[in-house]
Amino acid sequence: MTIPNQNTPPIGVRAFRASILHFTGDPHELGESAAEYFYDGLLLVEGGRVQRIGDATAMLATLPPGTEITDYRGHLIVPGFVDTHLHFAQTDIIASHGEQVLQWLERYTFPAEKRFADPAHAAEVAEFSVNEMLRNGTTASMVFATVHKGSADAIFRAAEARGLCMIAGKVLMDRNSPEGLCDTAESGYEDSKQLINDWHDKPGTRLRYAVTPRFAPTSTERQLELAGKLLDEHPGVYLQSHLAENKHECRWVRELFPWSKSYLDVYDRFGLLRPRSVYAHCIHLESADRKLMARKGAAMSFCPTSNLFLGSGLFDADEARKLGVKVGVGTDVGGGTSFSILRTLHEAYKALHLNGQAMDALQGFHLATLGGAKALDLDREVGNFEAGKFADFVVLDMAATPLVERRLASAGSLRERLFVAMMLGDEHMVAATYIQGKCQFSRSKP
Ligand code: GUN
Ligand code: ZN
Repeated sequence: MTIPNQNTPPIGVRAFRASILHFTGDPHELGESAAEYFYDGLLLVEGGRVQRIGDATAMLATLPPGTEITDYRGHLIVPGFVDTHLHFAQTDIIASHGEQVLQWLERYTFPAEKRFADPAHAAEVAEFSVNEMLRNGTTASMVFATVHKGSADAIFRAAEARGLCMIAGKVLMDRNSPEGLCDTAESGYEDSKQLINDWHDKPGTRLRYAVTPRFAPTSTERQLELAGKLLDEHPGVYLQSHLAENKHECRWVRELFPWSKSYLDVYDRFGLLRPRSVYAHCIHLESADRKLMARKGAAMSFCPTSNLFLGSGLFDADEARKLGVKVGVGTDVGGGTSFSILRTLHEAYKALHLNGQAMDALQGFHLATLGGAKALDLDREVGNFEAGKFADFVVLDMAATPLVERRLASAGSLRERLFVAMMLGDEHMVAATYIQGKCQFSRSKP
């Protein structure tokens, strides 16, 4: 096997041989025909983009002589995972015991986020969290920084250095927040504007900006109004926030915005519900809210490890789908308990099961790749191996642990094998992560 070299410059044409799986549609609608699978496949990359995929034996005969072939036979290549919601600045408080979200914010999150006033701390955690995403096969993500402008600069710089596709933003919070973590409506507006100018669609990068009001309770109406103004002034910029995660939070929103028809109505009133708006959690909603989200083109981030860990509740994926809302999965680190999208899928399976709903492995892998890319409006460039898309992919080791190897020995169909990967897999299963055909993480095997 050619050992991937982390320092190779972007190359012309390169081929990767392995089992290959991707989705051209949604398995909920199309069943198995939504997936394209090659047991002995070849992924051909040119200039960092997918040139084509197909059967290895047929394609090998047509390759230009001297084409470098990286041999990953025995492994499974899938498109890079899409994490639609996480907080890089909460890396150090992941797995903090025993609270629901509002107390958890006060007790663990806000003290941790205060430290991001220090640019050196922000840079160190940003680099760690980007490495952690790559170790877990995540190649595209939507990320909260903290209230400090420098924390957004830090995560953008770290993502830029590794070529990641990332949407991120500085948090807006001008009330109900502790000292040291408060901006003002005006300063939040100005800082966001500067960050948009510096980072959004910066040439040579795959970075975008998201206007980021933390959630309704920590913003004044003036701040939410200015968030809407930023979106109006900068077409193409994203919006990210939290919505209806916890029952106590929902009650608080009703008290703070007594005129509102619902929690979602608060965001809608200020023009924050539109295509490229992504809301995390979306648990305690009425059908009318979900319908409104679908009509406005907003997306939901389903964060099962966080929803279970913080005791928030059970996401209704069936209704979201029935009503046509775009959904992706989010790790929600550090309310969530893992950077691993595979672990996130396995908790999604369990959380849905508790809610009387089902998610098979094809549906899970679709949600983590093309589904997530659609939720983030990135599906023109990532999410599957259509020719011309960026060659962002993960190499999964289907014999990562003795248990996985043993269990797979008796697994028959592709669906069954993928289900084992989804239930038993985690970062140990990620053998390598490639961005634009370049290896950004490789686990050296014993
Ligand atoms: N609601 C407001 N802020 C947060 C946060 O940082 N994490 C989670 N899970 N919920 C929130
Ligand atoms: Zn969150």
